[in-house]
Amino acid sequence: MCGIVGFTGRRAAEPILLAGLRRLEYRGYDSAGVATIDSESRLVVRKRAGRVAALEELLSQSPAAGECGISHTRWATHGPANDLNAHPHIGGAGRVAVAHNGVIENHAQLRDELTRLGYVFQSQTDTEVIAHLIAQELKKDLDLFSAVRAILPRLEGTYGLAVVAPCEPGVLIGARMGSPLVVGLGDGEHFLASDSSAIAPHTQSVAYLQDGEVVRLTADEFNLEHLERGSIVPRVDRIDWKPDDRELGGVPHYMLKEIYEQPNTVRDACRGRIRRGEATAQFGGLNLTAAKLRRVRRIVFAACGTSLHAAKIGEYLIERCARIPVEVEYAGEFRYSNAPLDDRTLVFVLSQSGETADTLGALREARRRGHPTLAIVNTVGSTIAREADGGIYLHAGTEIGVAGTKSFAAQVVVLSLLAIYLGRLRHMSFTAGLEAIDAIESAPEPLQKTLAIEPLVVAAAERIANSKSVLFLGRDVHHPVALEGALKLKEISYIHAEGYPASEMKHGPIALVDPETPCVVVAPRGPLHAKTMSNIEELKARRGVIVAVGTEGDRELERRADVFLPIPDVPEIIQPLVAVVPLQLLAYHVALLLGRDIDKPRNLAKSVTVE
Ligand code: G6P
Repeated sequence: MCGIVGFTGRRAAEPILLAGLRRLEYRGYDSAGVATIDSESRLVVRKRAGRVAALEELLSQSPAAGECGISHTRWATHGPANDLNAHPHIGGAGRVAVAHNGVIENHAQLRDELTRLGYVFQSQTDTEVIAHLIAQELKKDLDLFSAVRAILPRLEGTYGLAVVAPCEPGVLIGARMGSPLVVGLGDGEHFLASDSSAIAPHTQSVAYLQDGEVVRLTADEFNLEHLERGSIVPRVDRIDWKPDDRELGGVPHYMLKEIYEQPNTVRDACRGRIRRGEATAQFGGLNLTAAKLRRVRRIVFAACGTSLHAAKIGEYLIERCARIPVEVEYAGEFRYSNAPLDDRTLVFVLSQSGETADTLGALREARRRGHPTLAIVNTVGSTIAREADGGIYLHAGTEIGVAGTKSFAAQVVVLSLLAIYLGRLRHMSFTAGLEAIDAIESAPEPLQKTLAIEPLVVAAAERIANSKSVLFLGRDVHHPVALEGALKLKEISYIHAEGYPASEMKHGPIALVDPETPCVVVAPRGPLHAKTMSNIEELKARRGVIVAVGTEGDRELERRADVFLPIPDVPEIIQPLVAVVPLQLLAYHVALLLGRDIDKPRNLAKSVTVE
């Protein structure tokens, strides 16, 4: 989603800003821009709709000189993606430039007020009001820091802000309320970014801003204040950064690379978490004793998108292994639903990015109501990770493809281990615990074997690529697998896809079935296999085209399917982990056949920081 990169120091800002924007590209955006203050204290602004490459092209013709500047990738909320709506926005005819992540909810009212004062708006964005408000304060001879501080209480909604002004060259201001912002500390230079990955190649010393904090940076100074509590000493953390984290290494897309990383993802998610001697799992950061966890009567998972589907798999596994009732809630609904929760309910949020606004909102709501809140998160140091009472990191490494794949695998592994841990605190036997652990630890091998069926998946993709709509069906724990398969397909191929329990198909979706609407059925061997086979017969009777994911050697299924995608015969607990792989590859190959922008699909963002 929207990204911010700022710099102040003693070298050219433009290349640093552009490289930073490139590192944020994976988050999804639709326009980009930079603003610098040049050596003659002039404000230089360059903006372009489209990719960072288009901005780079513009800058190659008209560079943005200077050693201090801000930059932004915008994901449109107010006003379409065009050059004028791209950030940074200018206030008071060149007095100040502002880049903003988040949404200003009272922008219409502020716009009216500023229009009455004579300000002329260039864009349809909510952000431009911030720029004019600051310009108005600068007219009163306030310094830039005081001017920004003065207007912040007037903004309702969320913001991560980066501000520069020609009246104070070399000064970079940042402010945070609900939208992440981090300061990078260099040698005689400072960085500001919405995500530490944008500045990680330059410095690994960072200070995360908290809500209500405003920062003033120059090449050598770093002053931090809280809007109400005044001056504060920044807490500096170190981030891990591996230079090769983002190399494609010859693979054509990040999504494919990340699909292929999944055997390792499983190993990394298990590392240090298995206590074989006691046939259970362990988690360092839960911050809840076994005695407290035994008292838990109910678990709520709140998440969005792919993380929500992983949570649904967790629901089946925890209910099965630990017999604790689990509910999975859309995070964006949970926060406003006022659902009745008793005092023995544990609330977990799941998020790859750790920044999803809806999920963060759910976490805060649960905490406000006095529930212990735990988070399952991939991005170390993200807002959700920092705000939860405890949690579990996925250790999946950076995921760049907008469509989550390896983070899903890591979530399913962590949830499986959690199910075993909670089960072993209750009535799960030593033998059952050990069997489950063995299955999870053995998963990399069948995953590797499943990746090898990619050529068969290409054949399935060819059957699907021209369809207008595709149904994904599965029973029991394979229902969330079907949901995830449908989400992957619609995210990156833009083909309409729906996931349903195979049992529910006859209650409505079957009306859609015809030779043009393929059905992808997830049907590995298991207790409900015969029931799914009957559902397949019902589809075939309506001339449905069947792509079946099933256990290798399942001749009966192979005979009934138009395309059969075999997965190894694995224990039930890891079936979802393995069965989702052909669906990820299927979405990938359909999107490839259709020439889609696989790693950066239209309209989507990797980390959705608005509600
Ligand atoms: C966005 C992405 C989805 C993702 C969801 C949750 O909508 O486009 O692919 O699954 O956010 O993201 P999270 O980082 O919270 O797991």
